[in-house]
Amino acid sequence: MERTFRVMRCDPEKDKKPYLQEYQVSARDGMTVLEGLFYIQRRLDPSLAFRFSCRGSVCGSCAMNINGRNRLGCETQVSSLKGVIKVRPLGHFKVLRDLVVELDGFWEKYRRVRPYLIPSSLPPEKERLQSPEERGRIGDTADCILCANCHGSCTVTGTDSEYLGPAALLKTDRFLRDSRDVAGDERIRIVDGVHGIWRCHTILSCQDVCPKELSPTSSIMDMRKRLVRKRGNDGR
Ligand code: FES
Repeated sequence: MERTFRVMRCDPEKDKKPYLQEYQVSARDGMTVLEGLFYIQRRLDPSLAFRFSCRGSVCGSCAMNINGRNRLGCETQVSSLKGVIKVRPLGHFKVLRDLVVELDGFWEKYRRVRPYLIPSSLPPEKERLQSPEERGRIGDTADCILCANCHGSCTVTGTDSEYLGPAALLKTDRFLRDSRDVAGDERIRIVDGVHGIWRCHTILSCQDVCPKELSPTSSIMDMRKRLVRKRGNDGR
């Protein structure tokens, strides 16, 4: 069955502004939007640029805006979309070319929250064990694949370039919940500010577009409560 793809194109070195280009794609059963883009690139227009890697909803590389919503191209079935399939790059990011956006700022914020375990001792010979209850406290906050769908849909990241953003704040919560981590005070200090947890408008757009159904907003609210409790205990 023929499906029309309308894809945002832009080569900043040549084009004054982005434009939409239409392609007719012969869609087979089970075809994903990412596979539709492969079809275009291989048979119709080799100049089309987009990112991908795992093709299995694991690496987060193929995040893009499809029919007005940020999604993973590799898990969005063509058959689930009605009418023309409109594909654009993620919002709030500079376009490098076509569907490829610059993620440097996203990664810089991610690095700022120290997204790794900070334990109190050197690594043991084998592994740092946790009880099922301790692992349970981390929950699904460890499932983020860093696709940046949330960052690209957040109303605050669109207006405040310094805002840490939902993915980095979710990661902070993930390590605050980890029984093996001892850097809680430092982690809270990093996110306690006008560009951190207090900047979120709790509009929930981040959780609406998360392919793993995570809720950065809930993490942000938990950290706010934690901080308020701490200030109460400190008598501030
Ligand atoms: Fe890896 Fe889509 S290609 S998540």
